[in-house]
Formats: sequence, C-alpha cells, structure tokens
Amino acid sequence: MKICVLPGDGIGPEITAEAVRVLNALDLKFEMEEALLGGCAVDATGNPYPEATQKLAQAADAVLLGAVGGPKWDSYPREQRPERGLLGIRKQLGLFANLRPAILYPELANASTLKPEVVAGLDILIVRELTGDIYFGQPRGIEMRDVDGKHQRFGFNTMHYTESEIRRILRVAFDAAKKRNKRVCSVDKMNVLECTQLWRDVAIEVGAEYPDVELSHMLVDNAAMQLVKNPKQFDVMVTGNMFGDILSDEASMLTGSIGMLPSASLDENNKGLYEPSHGSAPDIAGKGVANPLATILSAAMMLRYTFNQEAVAQRIEGAVKKVLAQGFRTGDIYESGMKRVGTREMGDAVLAVL
Ligand code: NAD
Ligand code: IPM
Ligand code: MN
Repeated sequence: MKICVLPGDGIGPEITAEAVRVLNALDLKFEMEEALLGGCAVDATGNPYPEATQKLAQAADAVLLGAVGGPKWDSYPREQRPERGLLGIRKQLGLFANLRPAILYPELANASTLKPEVVAGLDILIVRELTGDIYFGQPRGIEMRDVDGKHQRFGFNTMHYTESEIRRILRVAFDAAKKRNKRVCSVDKMNVLECTQLWRDVAIEVGAEYPDVELSHMLVDNAAMQLVKNPKQFDVMVTGNMFGDILSDEASMLTGSIGMLPSASLDENNKGLYEPSHGSAPDIAGKGVANPLATILSAAMMLRYTFNQEAVAQRIEGAVKKVLAQGFRTGDIYESGMKRVGTREMGDAVLAVL
C-alpha cells in the first residue's frame, strides 16, 4: 500500500501530519513518501508539479494531499501557480470522479449556521466531475482584441464536455446512489448553456440504465438555494467541475465547517487522490489551529476506495465521531462549553480513541 504524501502549502503540512499519524496508528503497513506540490514546489524547483513528484504519484496506489496555494503565488505567471500543479496531477492521473460527502455529525448540529432541524441527519454525496469543463477547456486566455469599436483587454474561457465524459461521471453517481437512498439529482444550467444541455440529455440516457434509481434535474442557481433551504431533499448530487466546486463549499457549511468536508478523487480503477475540500487557509496557516478532521476523514476515504478496507475506514470515522462527542473542537467548530483544541491536540484525541 504505497501512499504519496503531498503536504502542500499553508495549513497543508499541519493537517497532513495528523492524517499521517492516524494512518500510522492502524494495524496496516503503508509505504509513505513525501513530495512537493504547489507553491512549495514552485519555490524549490520553479514547477508546481515537479517531475520527481509526478514519478512518485504515478507509482503510488494513492495520494494524500493537504492543500496548495497562497497569496504569495497569486501574481505568478499561471503555469507557475500552485493551483496549476493541483489541476495537473488530477488530469495526469485521470482523477475524473470527485466525491465530496457532506455528512452532519449530530454533535455538530449547532456548529452549522443553519437551524439544527434543517441539517439534522444530513447525508449528501456531491459527485463532481474533475478533469473537464471550463477548468480545462481551450481556448482560454487574456489578450488584446478589437471589440465594440475599442482595442481592449479580452478575457475568455471555454466550457466543454464530451458525451463520454458526462456518461462516466453520471455512472459514478448512479452506482453510488444504488448503495445509498437511490436518488440522483443532476445539476446543470441547460436553460442558458448548450454544454449543460448535453449534460442533461446524457443524464437522462444514463438514467434509463438505472430504473431502480430516481433521477431529477435542477438548475444550478436553484440548487444553490435548495441546498440552504432544504438540504435533506438531496441524496446524490452530480454536476460539472465548476458548479461542483462551488456547491461543495456551500454544502460544507451544512456540516458545521469546511474543515469537516473530506474528498476522494478517483480514476477508472479507484486509484485516488485524497484531500480535504478546503484550501490552504493562509489566514490561519502556521498557527496550529486548523481543523485536521477533513484530512483525517479523507484518509478514511482512501482506505475505503483505494485499499478496500471498509472496516478500518469506519474505525477512523467512528473515532472522529467519538472525539466530537467528547467535546473536542477546533476554532472553526467551537461552541461555548466545549474543549477548544488546536490541530495537534485534535489529532492526539483521534489517536487516543483509536
Ligand atoms: P480556504 O478554504 O483556504 O479558506 C476559506 C476559509 O475557511 C478561511 O477563513 C480559512 O481559514 C477557513 N478554513 C479552511 N480550512 C480550514 C480548516 N481546516 N480549519 C479551519 N478553518 C479552515 O479558501 P480560500 O481562502 O479561498 O483559498 C486559499 C488558498 O487555497 C487559495 O490559494 C486557493 O487557490 C487555495 N485552495 C486550494 C485548494 C486545494 O488545494 N484543494 C482548495 C481550495 C482553495
Ligand atoms: C478545490 C479547489 C481547486 C478547484 C482549486 C485550488 C484549483 O478549489 O479543490 O475545490 O477549484 O478544484
Ligand atoms: Mn474548491
């Protein structure tokens, strides 16, 4: 079981360290090797996804990632930005299926900004397509053009999907729904965008292959509203790269904090990259206060999807539930009367239960 560990930038190294400690506390033997991705890689080599990292990631069964990015690199040329490294590894490894489960641990019902009764019992799976869409579409750029009688800067990106890209992510969503509550809501913007009209057409075709799963469709603006109004109407939501990015951050707040939302990015053979859904949180980096639970829960997803260790994955998830029941809280999920802890102490608490 070979794991490539990429701590990344900002809070990345702090939260990854806790997930690594959790993995090392299990009765399993992992081979772990660390490498550079993101801003740290740019600083060291000029490349956000250096060749040494590519080799390690390709040879590993799974990748554990913290987060990349930070204000320091925001003015760099695009090919030297940390985010380009992240998109590069997702594309190179063919990680088209991004699973982002938004589950409310009952202990955190009051940590959400929504009323407890709106989020109690919440268990949604967002399936986000991860290697297509406007994120990767060509042409793209910023250039000088003559438009509207003026020589001016012109910014452009291209949204596109092939029907095969749509079909394979829809199948992931339907297969997941079969093991859950058998409902898929496909999210698009077919009233305006042709690309997502194709998305809806293909969703309907794939839906016909799964007569036991109920398929519904929702326009993305309504979906954003419904997620806050009545999130429990959803079981599996499936959508494109950009809509999925936005809706999953929104869904994270239903669980109490973005620090609670793990993710798995899978290829056709369940090789995967596992990372929290949040970013490098530059505002709290280096302070030892970040919530490591999303990263620890991502390690649990690694055991489930890449290593077929469902029981061990559940052991980690059970330990997280227990530390929350014991009252341990990082700042992002803190409520008065609870035990306020930092990143390391939260990791300690999980280890103690394990
Ligand atoms: P962010 O997710 O990093 O932070 C948003 C807010 O959530 C901040 O207030 C932050 O402190 C808080 N937060 C995030 N994770 C937390 C945690 N574990 N515990 C407690 N609080 C947490 O989003 P941003 O500020 O928009 O982006 C910062 C940088 O991260 C940017 O450079 C962005 O490109 C990058 N980013 C990377 C990834 C990734 O590596 N997968 C994901 C998102 C953003
Ligand atoms: C995420 C992040 C990335 C994305 C960025 C950092 C490229 O926001 O993993 O959600 O947009 O996919
Ligand atoms: Mn995001």
